[in-house]
Parts: sequence; C-alpha cells; structure tokens
Amino acid sequence: MGRLDGRVALITGAGAGIGRRAAVLFAREGAKVAVAEFADDAGRDAVAEITAAGGDALFVHVDVSEPDSVEAAVRATVARFGKLDTLYNNVGGTNPKDGPVTDVPIDVFWGSLKRDLFGTFLGCRFAIPEIIKAGGGAVINTASLVALIGKPAPSQISYTAAKGAIVSMTRAMAVQYAPQKVRVNAIAPGITKTERVSRRLDENAIPAAMLSRHLLGPGEPMDVANAALYLASDESRMITGHTLPVDSGMTMS
Ligand SMILES: NC(=O)c1ccc[n+]([C@@H]2O[C@H](COP(=O)([O-])OP(=O)(O)OC[C@H]3O[C@@H](n4cnc5c(N)ncnc54)[C@H](O)[C@@H]3O)[C@@H](O)[C@H]2O)c1
Repeated sequence: MGRLDGRVALITGAGAGIGRRAAVLFAREGAKVAVAEFADDAGRDAVAEITAAGGDALFVHVDVSEPDSVEAAVRATVARFGKLDTLYNNVGGTNPKDGPVTDVPIDVFWGSLKRDLFGTFLGCRFAIPEIIKAGGGAVINTASLVALIGKPAPSQISYTAAKGAIVSMTRAMAVQYAPQKVRVNAIAPGITKTERVSRRLDENAIPAAMLSRHLLGPGEPMDVANAALYLASDESRMITGHTLPVDSGMTMS
C-alpha cells in the first residue's frame, strides 16, 4: 500500500532538483503525477524515470508565472487523470542579481515576485477549485529559510519578500479552505544539494558563515521531498497553515 494511493498530484518545476525527487517519490507512493515544467526535455525525462519504475505520470509544459499556462496545466491534469487533489508549488529560486533593497534592479525584484509568489498564487488559484471538487486534498507551497530569519537574508531582498509572502498566504489560505478539507502548508528548505546548489557549493559561492549554521550539514533533495510526501499524505491530516523548516537546524542557530 502506497502512502499516496489513489491521489493525483501536480508538481511544478518537477524536471530537476527537489521537484524531480518529489515527483519520483510521490509516484512510487502510488500517486499519478503531472510533471509541470517549462524545461521540456527535463520534464519528459522525469516522466520517463517515473514510468520506467512502473509509475503513472504526465508531462505538462507550464510557465508558472503565466495565468493561461497554469490554467491549461491544471486542465490537462484533470483531463488525463480525472481529478486533482494534491498541488505542490515547488518552482522558485534565487537570482544572482538580487541584492539589498537600495541596490537591487527593479526588474529583478518584480521577476522574483512574478515567478515565486505570483506562480504560487496562480497554482492555488486554478488547482484549489479542482481539489475542492475532488472532496479535499493538500497544497504544499515552497518558502525558504530566508522567510523565517533576518540573517543572512537582507542581501536577497526580492527572494526574501516573495518567500515571506508565501508563508503568509499559506496561513491565510489554510483558514479559508479548511471547511472544504483543503489543507495548505509550506516547506522552508535550508541549503539543499540540488544540481544547481551543488555547483555553487563546489565554487565556494555559498558563504561559510551560512553553511556552518546548517547544524547537520547541507540537505539532500530527498530530505525536502520526504517532507512534501508527509504533508501530501493523510499522516499530516491535522496539520494546516504551517511552514515546516527542513533546514538542518539553520533557523535555530
Ligand atoms: N535548493 C536549495 O538550497 C533551496 C533552498 C531554499 C529554498 N529552495 C526552494 O525550493 C524550490 C526548488 O528549488 P530547487 O533548488 O530544487 O530548484 P532547481 O533550480 O533545481 O529546479 C527548479 C525547476 O523549476 C523549473 N522552473 C523554473 N522556472 C519555472 C517556471 N517559471 N515555470 C515552470 N518551471 C520552472 C526549472 O526548469 C527547474 O526544473 C524553490 O522554490 C527554491 O526557492 C531551495
């Protein structure tokens, strides 16, 4: 018996990194998975990995920052699998040009808000009505440790603003949709060794002071995927509105 048997999950940014590991894990636990991704080759490759392991998955091209694209991805998922009950808004990330509020280029600020925050908003906007139709389910949003602590966040004001708003939005949506049995939670990862972040670690691009506050060392994508699986499954049926740090103790240090 899988922990997500009978579920249909849409995971954004599931072609690489944390989203990819979550897509493979959710499928292994019995979910039918829509791999929603704008890098087509990576998205198709994720579907191939899932189907090779005996799972059921669909690739849907999406740009999470475009309303029509997100609506079409939700529609394609329901058309193929008959319903949608789990949404994992995973897309996001830092921009190397992000910086302090007095310096950051204005377009970088709006770019972060458009992808991380508006992308999360759009996923919820189009998926929640389907989750309600399915009789309830789970939304998992993606914040970051920068949403929870002051230091060392100020050098990435755009990313920090977007992720902080995702935490607040998660709380508000949890209250709004609890009567319809839609649980809404978020995960706040610390440094997690995706391909992208591993490259930055190899280049010594992540400050030692930040790394040393990861008390158990940097995490693996599977650490975050496992937390997402828990929040998607009925094991977390009494948990809604929370942001779960998967941060190696960073926010405690
Ligand atoms: N890796 C970390 O250390 C870390 C730390 C804190 C928070 N996070 C958060 O975790 C999430 C996943 O991070 P990751 O490191 O796995 O990312 P990643 O860069 O490895 O993968 C992101 C995926 O999203 C896709 N994508 C990007 N923009 C998209 C768009 N507009 N529409 C559709 N797909 C898009 C990319 O093609 C890629 O496949 C992000 O929200 C990130 O902010 C990661």
